Amino acid sequence: MTSGADLSRRAMLSGAAVMVVASTQACAQSGPRPTGAQSKTLVAFFTRTGNTKVIAGTIQRTIGADLFEIVPARPYPKDYEETVAQATRERDQDVEPPLRGHVSDIGVYDEIYLGFPIWGETAPPVIRAFLKAHALRGKTVRPFITHGGYGVGKSLSVLASHAPGAQIEQPFVMEADQERRTMSQVKDWLGQIEGDRNEDANPW
Ligand SMILES: Cc1cc2nc3c(=O)[nH]c(=O)nc-3n(C[C@H](O)[C@H](O)[C@H](O)COP(=O)(O)O)c2cc1C
Repeated sequence: MTSGADLSRRAMLSGAAVMVVASTQACAQSGPRPTGAQSKTLVAFFTRTGNTKVIAGTIQRTIGADLFEIVPARPYPKDYEETVAQATRERDQDVEPPLRGHVSDIGVYDEIYLGFPIWGETAPPVIRAFLKAHALRGKTVRPFITHGGYGVGKSLSVLASHAPGAQIEQPFVMEADQERRTMSQVKDWLGQIEGDRNEDANPW
């Protein structure tokens, strides 16, 4: 599943490292927090359920890059199906939703690790918005992508078309948990508990 020789070269996705959940809230919207005076690498990512955030945090801590969480100005609904419906509309209508914050000094970075989940077989609308809002010409972009089992879809051609002049490297791609599958399994479990309760209450 994985590609992205650079990441594997740094041996950064060891099992132990992946288990550590990155805490990025502090620097999410105030712009990236420099981790070293000479830092020229940025890790920018979007996540809904946290899968992509684990990878972002792992990269950031392993190579000592700055971190920026891409957040829409208007949050997506908590409800999964509503989010799918909105994302589908935005994809089909080429909507680029406003972002809550931008990288103020994108010019100082020459390498950007860009992470996102696949939404509707492509890059989420906020990724198009992020690329439109930041001039990446001449920079190296290293995508890292999570999906729920259906691959990267059209996302790479979206990166190419929305980051003109950027050097887009081979992506790191990983299948990860699917919110729909998780919800379905939890609901089955809760249904069993409810069934057991009813049996206890009405033994005859
Ligand atoms: C709105 C929406 C659309 C999705 N569409 C796809 C898809 O087309 N193909 C796929 O494999 N997974 C799809 N997924 C699953 C996510 O890509 C996958 O669970 C990803 O790892 C979530 O990353 P996150 O935890 O960083 O948000 C979708 C998830 C959501 C919320």
